[in-house]
Amino acid sequence: MEVIRGIRQMQEKALTVRAAGRSIALVPTMGFLHEGHLELMRVGRRLCDVLVISIFVNPTQFGPSEDFDQYPRDEEGDLQKARDVGVDLVFIPTAREMYPEGFQSVVHVERVTQGLCGTSRPGHFDGVTTVVAKLFNIVGPDVAVFGQKDYQQLTAISRMVTDLNMPVKIVGVPTVREPDGLAMSSRNKYLDQEERASALSLKKSLDLAERMLAEGETDAGVVRQAVESLILEHPHTRIDYVTLCDPVSLEEVTRLGEETLLALAVHVGRTRLIDNRVIRKGTPGPPEDEGAS
Ligand code: PAF
Repeated sequence: MEVIRGIRQMQEKALTVRAAGRSIALVPTMGFLHEGHLELMRVGRRLCDVLVISIFVNPTQFGPSEDFDQYPRDEEGDLQKARDVGVDLVFIPTAREMYPEGFQSVVHVERVTQGLCGTSRPGHFDGVTTVVAKLFNIVGPDVAVFGQKDYQQLTAISRMVTDLNMPVKIVGVPTVREPDGLAMSSRNKYLDQEERASALSLKKSLDLAERMLAEGETDAGVVRQAVESLILEHPHTRIDYVTLCDPVSLEEVTRLGEETLLALAVHVGRTRLIDNRVIRKGTPGPPEDEGAS
């Protein structure tokens, strides 16, 4: 496994790989790798000849009062995990090289970035799509792999690639969960024991909504209220949003259709967690106690 820190070196390496007729999969990350990231890498490994990951805590996607400085970092541990999963190249650029003096360009995706996390994190998705566009230009991947846990991010990146004719296939990978159902996230590290228990309210509320739909409830207001009550029954929780929306346009719905995205952002203590599920009519809901431990 090779570690590359310079943009020019990464571009030259990628050119050599492509000149040899080999395909490239890219998994962009902000490091502090967990099983969710490793699953993205396994998918990338299967799809292409050469697997590249990037590790870059991207300052432009954090708001001024967010956790950029505290965001967990563990380069040594990350490199070991990447090696174990069969990564070929790790690209670790510096912020100074990614955003040199005079930098002033932004890739902005319009409508799908406006609701959900776009409301409480203004500018976040501009930071994401801009850095991902840069990574695509530097690495030139055939395939790029992202987690469905960041559903709105995946939607915005897919939109960008379609709208700007970027020659890269975007692959979304289902959320990897802890055995009790908590979606894996680098930010889970911030939770203390009580908050960790309350964090399960996210997964439980996805189950509840799915059960309500299976039992015939299609009024989005009723489902949202039930979900909010369930979350708020848990100590240390504060809701950022509970949104039922169309899974493609991300526009809010008043009635649950054949497929509806339930997306959640909840502060548990000082940690903001997100989760989501596409709930479908005609699917039996999960049993009541599933994941409730
Ligand atoms: O999902 C993430 O870790 C980041 O938003 C990404 C895609 C690596 C861009 O910085």
